[in-house]
Amino acid sequence: MLGSIFLFVFLSSARCAEILYDGRAQPDFDATSVLDNSTGPYLTAVRGSEAASYYTHFISDALYPTPLWGDPFGCSEDPIAISIDNSSVFVPGGNASNAQFGFRRTELIAQKNFSIAQLTAISQVNTTAFHFSIAADDTKPLNVTHEYQVVFIETSDGSHVFEAQLGSPFTNPTGTLPAADAQNIKIRDHSLNELFSTPLTPECWHNFAVVIDWDNLTLAVFYSAEAQPLELVSTTKANQGAISGPNGQGEFHFGVLKLPLVNPSDPSNEQSDVVHHGIQEGTTEGLLYSGIFIEKVGASGPTLSGPL
Ligand SMILES: *[C@@H]1O[C@H](CO)[C@@H](O)[C@H](O)[C@H]1NC(C)=O
Ligand SMILES: *[C@@H]1O[C@H](CO)[C@@H](O)[C@H](O)[C@H]1NC(C)=O
Ligand SMILES: *[C@@H]1O[C@H](CO)[C@@H](O)[C@H](O)[C@H]1NC(C)=O
Ligand SMILES: *[C@@H]1O[C@H](CO)[C@@H](O)[C@H](O)[C@H]1NC(C)=O
Ligand SMILES: *[C@@H]1O[C@H](CO)[C@@H](O)[C@H](O)[C@H]1NC(C)=O
Ligand SMILES: *[C@@H]1O[C@H](CO)[C@@H](O)[C@H](O)[C@H]1NC(C)=O
Ligand SMILES: *[C@@H]1O[C@H](CO)[C@@H](O)[C@H](O)[C@H]1NC(C)=O
Repeated sequence: MLGSIFLFVFLSSARCAEILYDGRAQPDFDATSVLDNSTGPYLTAVRGSEAASYYTHFISDALYPTPLWGDPFGCSEDPIAISIDNSSVFVPGGNASNAQFGFRRTELIAQKNFSIAQLTAISQVNTTAFHFSIAADDTKPLNVTHEYQVVFIETSDGSHVFEAQLGSPFTNPTGTLPAADAQNIKIRDHSLNELFSTPLTPECWHNFAVVIDWDNLTLAVFYSAEAQPLELVSTTKANQGAISGPNGQGEFHFGVLKLPLVNPSDPSNEQSDVVHHGIQEGTTEGLLYSGIFIEKVGASGPTLSGPL
C-alpha cells in the first residue's frame, strides 16, 4: 500500500513542469481588475484609446481553450480574445507627438508581481520554453495583405528575440499581395530567418513552444495542433543576431500588432516608417490565445503535453 503511494507521488512529480510564468486566464479572472487595472499576469498598456477590457476578453463559454494542457485550474482556463480596430493607435507615454498611427495594436505584456523586470530575471536565463497557442477568430478575420506580429520578446532596441508572424511581410515598395504564405504563421529568429511555418487553419488551436538557450543563444521550435503532444519542428539553431546579457532580454508580448502598407502619397522619407505612417483600413480584427506560459527547461526538454 505504502509502496504504491510512493510510486504515485514519484510519477506525479516526474512530469511536473516548473512554470516560471502562468499567463493562462483563470476562470475567476475579473476583466476590470486583471485587464483594466493590470493586477494579474498582464500589463495592458499597449493598446488604443479605449479601456483594456474593450479590446481583450476572457471567453468563458462558447469556446474551449487549447486541449493540450488538460484542465489547469480544475475548471479549465479561459481563452483570451484580443482585437484591434481603428482606435487601436498606441500613444507611448500618452505623448501625442509619438502616436503610432502606422500600427494598430493590442498586446498583453507578461508580468509577475506587477513587474516585467522580476519576470525577466527568472525567465530569460539558462534555458526556458515560451509556450503559446493561437487560433483564428472567425468573427474577426485578419487581412493577410498586411503583416501581423502576434507573439514576440521585444528588447530595448525594438528588435525581437523571436517572433510569431502572420500575413504578408511589409515591403517598400509594396510587392505582390497577398504573399504566397500569407495564411501561415511563421516563427522567426532575431534576424527574421524563418524557423517554421504552418497554415493558421480555422477552428484549430495551433500550439507552439519556443525553447531559448539564453547562454548559448539558440532557438528550437515545437509545434502541434489541438490535443496532440508538441513535436520538435526546428532543431536547435543559433539565434542569428541575438546577444547575451540585459540588452538581449526583453518584454514578452502577445496580441495583435498590424503593420501598414506603404502609402504612396506620403513623402519618400516617411514611407518605410511603419510605426507612424502608412495605410490602415481601420477594420476590427482579432486572434484567440490560450496556453500561455513560460517553463524552465532542463536536460529532458520542455513539457510536450498535459495535464499541466
Ligand atoms: C482599479 O483601480 C482603481 C484605481 O486604483 C481602483 O479604485 C479600483 O477599485 C480598481 N478596481 C478593481 C476591480 O480592481
Ligand atoms: C482611422 O484612424 C485614423 C487615425 O486616427 C484616422 O485618420 C482615420 O480617418 C480613421 N479611419 C476611419 C475609417 O475611421
Ligand atoms: C513629446 O514627444 C516629443 C517628440 O518625441 C518631444 O519632443 C516632447 O518633448 C515630448 N513631450 C513631453 C511632454 O514629454
Ligand atoms: C514583489 O515585488 C516587491 C517589490 O516591488 C518585492 O518587495 C516583493 O518581495 C516581491 N514579491 C515576490 C513574491 O517576489
Ligand atoms: C541558472 O543556472 C545556474 C547554474 O545551473 C543556477 O545556479 C541558477 O540558479 C539558474 N538560474 C535560474 C534563475 O534558474
Ligand atoms: C485589406 O487590405 C488591403 C490593403 O490595404 C485593402 O485593399 C483591402 O480593402 C483590405 N480588406 C479589408 C476586408 O479590409
Ligand atoms: C553551450 O555551448 C557550450 C560551449 O560551446 C557547450 O559546451 C554546451 O554543451 C552548450 N550547451 C547546450 C545546452 O547546448
